[in-house]
Amino acid sequence: MGSEAGSDAPPGESRMWEFASSFPRQLKEGLRSVPRHNFAARPGVPIATVGMGGSGIAGELLSSLAARGGESALLPVRDFVLPAWVRPPVPVVFVSYSGNTAETLGAYEQARARGLPRAVIASGGRLIELAKEDGVLHVQVPPGQPPRASLGYLFGALAGILREVLPEVDRDLPRVADGLSARSEEFSSDSGLAGKLATAWGGDRDLWVYATDPLLPVARRWKTQAEENAKRLGHFDAVPELLHNAVVAWDAMPKAEAQGRFVAILHAAGEGEATVRRVDYLARSLGAQGAKVELVVPRSRGALGEMLELVWLGDYVSLWAARRRRVDPLPVPAIDKMKVALGGSAPRASGGRKG
Ligand code: PA5
Repeated sequence: MGSEAGSDAPPGESRMWEFASSFPRQLKEGLRSVPRHNFAARPGVPIATVGMGGSGIAGELLSSLAARGGESALLPVRDFVLPAWVRPPVPVVFVSYSGNTAETLGAYEQARARGLPRAVIASGGRLIELAKEDGVLHVQVPPGQPPRASLGYLFGALAGILREVLPEVDRDLPRVADGLSARSEEFSSDSGLAGKLATAWGGDRDLWVYATDPLLPVARRWKTQAEENAKRLGHFDAVPELLHNAVVAWDAMPKAEAQGRFVAILHAAGEGEATVRRVDYLARSLGAQGAKVELVVPRSRGALGEMLELVWLGDYVSLWAARRRRVDPLPVPAIDKMKVALGGSAPRASGGRKG
């Protein structure tokens, strides 16, 4: 069986697989959709990005790349409230696929009150209205998809807005996206790496994802995709930090309990000897406790390619897990319910939400 959904597949499955396969194209289109602009992102001045969930992860991924090769620090904010030090001239980019997420709108109002330079990425909603009213740079991505299935558009658009401070990402993204496309068949094949990892994870247990520090946002993405697509909890943590705490709990865990756990460890080639030693040590320690451990190393070279390859692989792992669990990866009723209860985008009849 490949990416084709069977006749008894849940109703949203084939759409989610299609969205997943469009990731490389989304990346390029998102980048291309950014108009010529003079946004106030300047080398040396930190930048805040605001967004929640499937939208917020774009800022977090780029923040990690900025730490390694950018001209400015990027601070991802996942709250209504901006840190006190975010004052002019610090610019803020707001990312909300629906454009109606309460936390993101709250932070936008705060940024407006502080007179901060702003830019907006959304498919519509109140955020786009506000940007138009305020004459603020805005990029409107295609509507009608779940936010988490639109990461390519959001990431590409954010990279385009921040091109002054992330020139390498801006330059390399189209080539990297083309390179990723070559993996599509493998990731969507039952016997490929994503299918194998989903099998190793197994349908009915939580997913544990550990990653070296630069790849921590990718580990978070694997966690959130496990939760929203496969409807299983995920847990993530960073190497080397977790060697200073989590290992104690693993060490104290009864073997029978550890044997029921699966841990994916994400790391990249060329991370340096000290990191490699720590990854090996961790894998051996967890394995000795009886946990099932898979080391996952991207084939791509370069920080951008490594990161995006692992993001995409994790998306497919979650879709394979959903299929094996016979759950529909598309609807996220608990998030819809929360937004109705607390304010934010309302659910749509299709099981998605307002785009
Ligand atoms: O994946 C999801 O659907 C959520 O995590 C959303 O991204 C989150 O609720 C924020 O909504 P939006 O992305 O529309 O701002």
